[in-house]
Amino acid sequence: MGFEQYHEPADELPSETRTFARMIVSLSEEAEAINWYEQRIAVEKDKSARAIMQDAQKEEFKHFAMDLEWLLRAKPLWREIAQGVLFTKGDITKLGDQSEEAAD
Ligand SMILES: [Fe+2]
Repeated sequence: MGFEQYHEPADELPSETRTFARMIVSLSEEAEAINWYEQRIAVEKDKSARAIMQDAQKEEFKHFAMDLEWLLRAKPLWREIAQGVLFTKGDITKLGDQSEEAAD
């Protein structure tokens, strides 16, 4: 594991951009952990082991949400577009298109 989150020379990136990159990687890792637990839970036969995995996955939901909120605070345009999609009802694709179009 190295510095794969950077697509530009790290020493040329401002500190805020490096922090942003770390949080993006963290968000991705939390999503990956949620996925791993989802799969483990699906195949685990032992009820008490499954309960522990469900508890762990719940914690990953929190981590993902905190990372996402940090990123949305850091990028107001992202927040604006996300607000048109997240926690809504209706056609997700349509909401996404409308939200992107309305954002400035
Ligand atoms: Fe986590």
